[in-house]
Amino acid sequence: FFANVELVPGDPILGLTEAYNADSRSTKVNLGVGIYYDESGRIPLLRAVKQIEQQLADEAKPRGYLPIDGLPAYNQATRELVFGKDSPLLAAGRVATSQTIGGSGALRVGADLLHRLLPHATIAISNPSWENHRAVFGAAGFEVVEYSYFDPTTHGVDFDAMLADLGKLQPGTVVLLHACCHNPTGADLTVAQWKQVAELLKDRQLFPFIDMAYQGFDKGISEDGAAVRIIAEAGIDSFVVANSYSKSFSLYGERIGALSVVAPDAASAKAVQSQVKRIIRTIYSSPSNHGAALVAGVLNSVELRQVWEAELTEMRERIHALRHGLVENLVAAGAPEFAFINDQAGMFSYSGLTRPQVDRLRDEFGIYAVGTGRICVAALNQGNLAYVAKAVATVAKG
Ligand code: LMR
Repeated sequence: FFANVELVPGDPILGLTEAYNADSRSTKVNLGVGIYYDESGRIPLLRAVKQIEQQLADEAKPRGYLPIDGLPAYNQATRELVFGKDSPLLAAGRVATSQTIGGSGALRVGADLLHRLLPHATIAISNPSWENHRAVFGAAGFEVVEYSYFDPTTHGVDFDAMLADLGKLQPGTVVLLHACCHNPTGADLTVAQWKQVAELLKDRQLFPFIDMAYQGFDKGISEDGAAVRIIAEAGIDSFVVANSYSKSFSLYGERIGALSVVAPDAASAKAVQSQVKRIIRTIYSSPSNHGAALVAGVLNSVELRQVWEAELTEMRERIHALRHGLVENLVAAGAPEFAFINDQAGMFSYSGLTRPQVDRLRDEFGIYAVGTGRICVAALNQGNLAYVAKAVATVAKG
């Protein structure tokens, strides 16, 4: 049966880690995958996570199945984090949250749900968007189209073009929006621009699908969640939010995320949740416990939550410092044209490096970046900054 199976290309992001791992050069740097590394080049195990993990180990609870839609305490804490504790949507019972297998799982379950409920809808994603968005929604049966987003000359958002393209979409189109720390560009909307987008979505009857994988990685938990509140306040009565704790809790391998569905009233939220549960049951039955127990344990403890918020602030501020450090080192290496990196947000920068330049970075310097020129700023440290800056300046000139 498998004699003539076609070999498909490796994943454009995760495939890079495989190549990086196989590279024997001691100077190698992985700026490919979106992972935050600390100053010693390690993925941090957060202090808050370590503490709750110890507590849970001491409790030695039995490991029964979780409900299909996950740990209730986790879903409640997630709703409050994503929408704000005082959100009128929560008070009205209009938000149904389900624990999912990472943010990617939330995207796929959300995609399956929407394709089931809106079978003729297409989805519009930003140009560019996370490499996997097109694939996830395509796999769920959606036709995927793009709206303009990034301006390579300013290295920021081309807002007029974005509004113009959104304004042309058919009513009922699903629009995928990055709440903050846009992946791959690092170019975000301002609060004023979000308000305009929300009005347009409402007027044109477009359906917002918000992907929030980096809450707390740019300005703060509440500030980075502004898009969700603005869309709710615009009076859009139905939308979905996928969120992830991979980055904000440094829990990548625990695959812990959630899908929150906002419905016009509590009864319809319940009905949509029943559909979500049916979808989950037929893919993986129910999610796993550990990551959810960690996140819920931290978010629901006053003391541990404070520890976590301080650690999140440390990570965010360190990324800002790394951006500045990279720009300074690039200037010193004779490449002042990269100053825009300071204005971008979150883990990533769309560096403007071309595919051949990215290939040269890998081949000559052992520095791995995504083929589109996306680099993960959060993988830098004081030990590799000057090396990376020199290499980038060299390939940019050549
Ligand atoms: C990324 O964009 O690098 C991360 O979201 C990890 C992934 O799964 O691609």
